[in-house]
Amino acid sequence: MSPSGSALSRPGAICRNGQGVYCRTFGPRYIPTLVQGVAVNLSGKHVVITGASSGIGEALAKEFGRAGARLTLVARRRELLDRLSGEIGGGCIGIAHDLSDPSKALDWIPAAEAAHGPIDVLVNNAGVAPTGRSEAIGADELESLLNLNFVVPIRITHHLLPGMIARKSAAIVNVGSVAGLVPVPWQTCYSATKAGLGGFSEALRGELLGTGVVVLSVYPGPVTTELGEKGYAALGGRTGINRLVPEGTPDVLAVKIRSHLENERARLVYPGMLVTSRWFPNWTRWMLDKVAPRVFDKMSKPT
Ligand SMILES: NC(=O)c1ccc[n+]([C@@H]2O[C@H](COP(=O)([O-])OP(=O)(O)OC[C@H]3O[C@@H](n4cnc5c(N)ncnc54)[C@H](OP(=O)(O)O)[C@@H]3O)[C@@H](O)[C@H]2O)c1
Repeated sequence: MSPSGSALSRPGAICRNGQGVYCRTFGPRYIPTLVQGVAVNLSGKHVVITGASSGIGEALAKEFGRAGARLTLVARRRELLDRLSGEIGGGCIGIAHDLSDPSKALDWIPAAEAAHGPIDVLVNNAGVAPTGRSEAIGADELESLLNLNFVVPIRITHHLLPGMIARKSAAIVNVGSVAGLVPVPWQTCYSATKAGLGGFSEALRGELLGTGVVVLSVYPGPVTTELGEKGYAALGGRTGINRLVPEGTPDVLAVKIRSHLENERARLVYPGMLVTSRWFPNWTRWMLDKVAPRVFDKMSKPT
């Protein structure tokens, strides 16, 4: 049966492909292969986006809302979530919750499921990125960073996975960073959390092949958001060699994430020029070691 005629391709289904593969090169037919493609149809799906009150999460909420998803938005700033939910409409709800405490990582889930039913798509996006010397970060801030960026996304995923696998139809999007592919000085702990999340994400995708649960790993470079602005402020602004680093926008990234889900893609590096960090990590490492002291000029001077 062709993908367009399969049960899973009906409007409202997440996966176009349960066992075989839709072969794009040779047209709409299934072929036995080692690689599995799974397309995600967001229409009517319950999508949870963490860190949706601003930046990439906010842009994703708007984009997925346009795709017809039923949205649950999670972050701390209630007023921003309420405003965004009203703007998106379609039953979108906001849940104000601090995701930096692993013991309370799952507390928002009953409210989300009461509103929209089982979670079909989880977007682990909430994050912070302190920039500065490793020894300067406070112990509490460090704990919070590790939990928010790494421990809690895995904790939530671990909790939701059994239901997703049983329903044979779901998606998980993990928003990492190119700093997880090629770790960045003066963002050491941040880089470590993103490397860890990326590792979990890539391995999980392989583990879930054939289950109907798809995993998309996203690796943004600089994107113009509150987090990005704080990073540049810590570095003394977009001056010197900083200006040469390509920078993207949350709106374009959101469109790309939706497109990657709909087109069976496993990972996304954005802006595209930074794909060198994935394909040529050693070269990128060398470049970074050469330029980092200048990019991070302000930071590189011990106080
Ligand atoms: N912008 C970049 O250059 C860039 C590059 C690489 C990767 N990324 C990644 O992209 C993701 C989104 O960041 P962004 O650039 O869009 O920055 P942003 O605009 O600052 O968004 C971060 C989001 O995380 C939420 N958040 C922060 N602490 C939280 C907490 N304790 N509990 C719950 N939610 C919390 C914030 O909401 P509240 O403050 O309302 O809680 C906000 O919605 C992050 O994981 C970041 O690491 C960004």
